[in-house]
Amino acid sequence: MIEFPARIGTPLSPNALKVMLLGSGELGKEVIIAFQRLGVEVIAVDRYDNAPGQQVAHSSHVINMTDAEQLKALIRRVKPHIVVPEIEAIATPALKELEAAGEVRVVPTANAAWLTMNREGIRRLAAETLGLKCSSYAFASSFELLKQAVEQGLDGKPAIGYPCIIKPVMSSSGKGQSKVDSADELQAAWDYAASAGRVDAGLVIVEGVVDFDYEITLLTVRSRVPGTVADIQTSYCEPIGHLQQSGDYVESWQPQPMSTVALDMAKAMADSVTAALGGTGIFGVEMFVKGDEVWFSEVSPRPHDTGMVTMITQWQNEFELHARAILGLPVDTSLKAVGASAVIYGGQDKTGMAFEGVAEALAEPGTDVRLFGKPESFKKRRMGVALARDTNIELARAKARRAAAKVKPV
Ligand SMILES: Nc1ncnc2c1ncn2[C@@H]1O[C@H](COP(=O)(O)OP(=O)(O)O)[C@@H](O)[C@H]1O
Ligand SMILES: [Mg+2]
Repeated sequence: MIEFPARIGTPLSPNALKVMLLGSGELGKEVIIAFQRLGVEVIAVDRYDNAPGQQVAHSSHVINMTDAEQLKALIRRVKPHIVVPEIEAIATPALKELEAAGEVRVVPTANAAWLTMNREGIRRLAAETLGLKCSSYAFASSFELLKQAVEQGLDGKPAIGYPCIIKPVMSSSGKGQSKVDSADELQAAWDYAASAGRVDAGLVIVEGVVDFDYEITLLTVRSRVPGTVADIQTSYCEPIGHLQQSGDYVESWQPQPMSTVALDMAKAMADSVTAALGGTGIFGVEMFVKGDEVWFSEVSPRPHDTGMVTMITQWQNEFELHARAILGLPVDTSLKAVGASAVIYGGQDKTGMAFEGVAEALAEPGTDVRLFGKPESFKKRRMGVALARDTNIELARAKARRAAAKVKPV
């Protein structure tokens, strides 16, 4: 296994330092570009051809990443030094096996990828092992148990009550998730969750609704700094505020103003959960905030979609921070400008989408646009993002929304 700091060779030659991305969407694409800039050879893997990251990688493969045998065979054939999971839907036990055998290094660790792909693993770690404040929750494997958890309480815990939120334990981007206000909506929420969950359909988490003022992503970086405890330093980006619609992020901004008490608490929680997951790299720690109170929600051991705003707000964006931390290089999480991001949706189901109005979007000073190059568009598929910087968050948000609205998928 490779040691820190990684020795960087020449791409496409026998001494190349090879990194394999598992998942090559818009976030993977930016991670790949960050690695490329450091002279790393990158192999992009996805479940479909011409995924955004595959368009900028040295080589690419299309496999079913939830199939352990296919995944192991590909890693053994390509022999990357480092495997970087960019999505949750991966046969993570196969990664644990290869990591344990010393065949590959998984970012941040195979165990972290495994724990965080399942809401049960990460919630039990955060709430029960680490004692972080979370919403009330219960797990249910049938409709009857779900009803009992909500109305009477399960396993000696108090009833969750209404309103509550039901989520498949394995899902992302709000898939299979619904808010339930009363008993007559519970069956539909169960059916929806059971049909939309990946791999292990049939287990749901039900959570009490947290009545927050705002929610944040605290991008937390574990990087190598010789001489610190275990040679690992934890640094934090400025908190990112975001707006979610049906479980999908539509706008984000940085920095989200917070009280000192809340920010210190958020950092302490992020430190605790990322230290438990281990390894090096960036983590997107999602939290809810009300006044000085902070609830842990979830964590992903990789760049976060709401963190795309850092492409205009930070000296080193979240993708560059991830690449540097993975390679054992120093990082700088400082802010460059106040800014915001707004999502550009496909608006229609179509292959070979074109985009008009990009010049108009970019005509306003302090704006930028990323088009991901996805071969197929859906109405609610994220096809690009508009970025804006300004003197305050409100102005930056409005500018990002204006720029996004000018880009017209046709
Ligand atoms: N317990 C909760 N209380 C209030 N809002 C919630 C709760 N759980 C989820 N949400 C809302 O739904 C969004 C998506 O939920 P999340 O658990 O982050 O799912 P995903 O893994 O799909 O991102 C959150 O960002 C938040 O806006
Ligand atoms: Mg989330």
